[in-house]
Amino acid sequence: MAASDDSRAADSPGDPSQAWTALAPDYERARDREDSLDRLVEWPAQRDLLGDVSGRSVLDLGCGNGGKLAELVRDGATACVGVDVSGNFPSAPAPGLELVQGDLNELDSVPAVAGRTFDRILFLQSFGYAKDPIRTLKAARARLADDGFILLTKTQPIRYAVEQAEENGTSLGEEYFATSRFSYRSGWNDDITLTKRRYTISDLINVFSAAGLWIEAALEPQLSSDARRRYPHKQAWMDKHLGILAFRLRPRQDA
Ligand SMILES: C[S@@+](CC[C@H](N)C(=O)[O-])C[C@H]1O[C@@H](n2cnc3c(N)ncnc32)[C@H](O)[C@@H]1O
Repeated sequence: MAASDDSRAADSPGDPSQAWTALAPDYERARDREDSLDRLVEWPAQRDLLGDVSGRSVLDLGCGNGGKLAELVRDGATACVGVDVSGNFPSAPAPGLELVQGDLNELDSVPAVAGRTFDRILFLQSFGYAKDPIRTLKAARARLADDGFILLTKTQPIRYAVEQAEENGTSLGEEYFATSRFSYRSGWNDDITLTKRRYTISDLINVFSAAGLWIEAALEPQLSSDARRRYPHKQAWMDKHLGILAFRLRPRQDA
């Protein structure tokens, strides 16, 4: 299974993000493996879309343990803030990096974020936890500095349609266009069941547009040829499930 995901936790219907308190360490262990798709495909693509971060402030929403943000600080980013509901952070984050436990649905009530602007705002496999996706993106847009952009990555919805079609004996199209939620066991901890809201690629594009954003660049990253040779099982997974979508989003000036 891919190292990253943006599923909702079924065991805690009141607060779908709650399961991450239990899941966070297992997720980070999986992400850390040398053959994790996050390491091989997702982070290189995310890093590529971010470009030069020197002197840039970065807000990472759903930052996990803050490891990606720490790398950006090493690459010259400044005044960086990571927000995650799990609070699974190292005891001493690097200078220039603030990690806070908080909810990406309530940005303005996170003291480290309220009243500030950032050059780059990240939703890396975390946007699925937005209860009201348009409201959440609008709130992030309002926190962008001049010339700022949002980097948002999300699992290819076709991946879930493939899995559900196999499980239910249905077709790809039936599952891709279905509207009901579905559940499955998390690959990071078999005791935790995740529930997903369905979405199509046009759903995503319409959310960006309704939030006053335009897509400056989009990527469907794949393994490098070297990684394909070294990790054929990961190439087999990608051939079947496609991977993630990555978007660089800028505010529309007319919105
Ligand atoms: C799939 S992980 C991605 C982590 C990291 N962004 C990465 O790319 O490796 C999803 C993250 O979203 C966090 N999360 C879930 N619900 C959240 C919420 N309501 N507010 C903030 N973070 C949340 C989880 O704790 C988890 O760290």
